[in-house]
Amino acid sequence: MKIPFFVQEFTDEMKEAAIHALQNESFVGGESVSKFEEEFAEYTGTKYAASVSSGNGALQISLMALGISEGSKVFTPTNSFIASANCIRMTNAKPILVDINVKDGGIDVHSIRDKANAIIPVHIYGNPCDFDSVKSLSEEQKIPIIEDACQAHGAIFRGKKVGSLSDVGCFSFYPTKNMTVGGDGGMTTTDNEEIAMKIKSIRDNGRKTKNEFDKLGFTMRLNTVNAAIGRVQLKHLDEKNSRRRQIVKNYRKELFEDCILPENSEGKSVYHQIVIKHDKRDKIRKELFDNEIGSAIYYEKPIHMQKIYQEYGLTLPNSEKFSREIMSLPSYPSLTDEQVGIIAECVNKIIN
Ligand SMILES: Cc1ncc(COP(=O)(O)O)c(C=O)c1O
Repeated sequence: MKIPFFVQEFTDEMKEAAIHALQNESFVGGESVSKFEEEFAEYTGTKYAASVSSGNGALQISLMALGISEGSKVFTPTNSFIASANCIRMTNAKPILVDINVKDGGIDVHSIRDKANAIIPVHIYGNPCDFDSVKSLSEEQKIPIIEDACQAHGAIFRGKKVGSLSDVGCFSFYPTKNMTVGGDGGMTTTDNEEIAMKIKSIRDNGRKTKNEFDKLGFTMRLNTVNAAIGRVQLKHLDEKNSRRRQIVKNYRKELFEDCILPENSEGKSVYHQIVIKHDKRDKIRKELFDNEIGSAIYYEKPIHMQKIYQEYGLTLPNSEKFSREIMSLPSYPSLTDEQVGIIAECVNKIIN
């Protein structure tokens, strides 16, 4: 591909931090881990942050810390990565998959008729979801909110960072995200000390003290070397998010038709994905492919249409139509203005 869909970043600064941590700290539980947590909590504007080994792990452990278990039900949107629902099933609870609004692909709380024990809204594509509606539902049903902010590091809703809006925020550091740790990794954020302590215990086999264990748990800690790389990435997150926002501006300027999904009017997206929605989607992708330009579809199959969810027998029409018309354009910070121009030219050829 002349312009790949995604470019993995590895800088000298990441390399130096990794080597320094490996040479000077314990591989597990080194001081880089607590420093990364402190810095991430400060960045997000929460009292606590607890790192884990993935975004999926962050969601799963948060649910467990909030007491979600067999017999519980949890709302989550069907337009997301499958982990948003699988984490619920891994606690033996049942996901209630919710349709989306076709404007931005976020959860449509107004379509909910059920009752549940918790809600996991997703800030999909880096864009804060309609959090006012989520909050109203949570107050109405008296249920906790766990934000799936796995794609939205640094996004803002009504002046506050996502991950600080609810009971717990969950982040992923998978390499394609706006920030990584040089491998898999995740983070939870909360203002509630008890929840933070529970998460730290569950990620560490349910440990209470050095030799005492008082609950079931996993080995789901973040490795020291990954935390050290995460600290470097966090330092550069804002500048990289700004570049992503500039790239979107450039696309909007260049495209004949503004078919890019809008951002929440009450917030600021970090454009993890730059998604266009068009009924000529497949032709646009082919044109890009023929010109050696990468693209992707997030998500080609909504969660309720995946094999392990088909038994639920759901039809969620908005997400089904949406998934046939959306595609993501390259959005990484190192994409040049010239490359944006080349990509836009290919898209324009089809939509004009
Ligand atoms: C919306 C969403 N939720 C959850 C996850 C799971 O994160 P991870 O891949 O780190 O387990 C991801 C990332 O892939 C995601 O994009």
